Amino acid sequence: MSKITSRDFSFIPETGEAQRPARAGRFLTSHGEVLTPAFMPVGTQGTVKGITPVQLREIGPQVILGNTYHLGLRPGDALVAQMGGLHRFMGWEGPILTDSGGFQVFSLASMRKMTEEGVTFQSHIDGSPQFLSPERSMEIQRNLGSDICMALDECPPGRMERAKLEISMARTTRWLARSRAVPLQPHQGLFAINQGGTHLDLRRRHLAEALELDAKTPFQGFAVGGLSVGEPKVEMNAVLAEFVKELPQDRPRYLMGVGTPEDLLFGIEQGVDLFDCVLPSREARHGRILTSRGRLNLKNARHREGDLPLDPACSCYTCRTFSRAYLHHLFRCGELLGFTLNTIHNLSYTVGLTRAARQALLENRFPAFAQSARSGWMTEEP
Ligand code: GUN
Ligand code: ZN
Repeated sequence: MSKITSRDFSFIPETGEAQRPARAGRFLTSHGEVLTPAFMPVGTQGTVKGITPVQLREIGPQVILGNTYHLGLRPGDALVAQMGGLHRFMGWEGPILTDSGGFQVFSLASMRKMTEEGVTFQSHIDGSPQFLSPERSMEIQRNLGSDICMALDECPPGRMERAKLEISMARTTRWLARSRAVPLQPHQGLFAINQGGTHLDLRRRHLAEALELDAKTPFQGFAVGGLSVGEPKVEMNAVLAEFVKELPQDRPRYLMGVGTPEDLLFGIEQGVDLFDCVLPSREARHGRILTSRGRLNLKNARHREGDLPLDPACSCYTCRTFSRAYLHHLFRCGELLGFTLNTIHNLSYTVGLTRAARQALLENRFPAFAQSARSGWMTEEP
């Protein structure tokens, strides 16, 4: 693999006008090329829960995600750096994106106190006092050595009133400038995060502010944050339908924390390139299985004697090897292997969905693909 040392995340489109705003494309990182659209499995603590990197490689994600918040607290970014960086520490050679910690401070930490300088909070692990600022978030991500770093943002709840949201966004813009000013490793790129809730005009204003900074020192990509945080789904979709196409065409676009198979398809239709979500892996651990024919609950007694694979259309290790009856049994016993096998399937399904969407885009048959995926999900009995 050739080492690139300059930042080169230029998005190379592979589909033309005809399919816009949906698009397939690629961009280069020092740990490999990223083919999009792509779903990024979540590896919060330096592991995609329940599976090994070998199993992960067979699933075939283009990028995986790690968390500044968690890894900065434990084992600490200095230790990860001492061990050679996150790729080496966790045994994953492909591209890694790290989230900046803003969102996790809001969802996990207690006793939060926001100031212009940063946010002080109590660790969710041992209650110790902690501090996160744009500078500290960048320092952690620099030590982790991820390929894609995210700027520190304030992630407001879905229903925040407009006036408060505007104050929060203005701070996120100032933090974006501070994040940009911190030197990263030469191979690392930085993505800006757009906020603004479900207000299209606020999103546009926030993007204009980011583009002013971008004109001085370019960001390597643009993310849409602050969605799927409690707002009605129709409002999220309405914003995406108008806003995603306004993001720069020549950089990757990342929709954070989304989502369900339905959400991924909708996002791709709007021109999103990257997604991440805990949903497929978390659902797997609860025995809830995503398939091309809708959802399936392994707990259900009707799977006791099921001799089909989870999804006959899936070619993952789990589906090639095991019956629903066996996976139902493992789930009922609480066997660890059940978590692993369900996770392999749900991630294979989700990564496979984005890969199939990419193929359909490249072959100029995306609308038919989307329609057929949706009609599959509507079938009664998976
Ligand atoms: N993950 C999901 N949504 C968000 C967001 O708005 N900001 C950040 N940093 N991470 C997220
Ligand atoms: Zn499968």
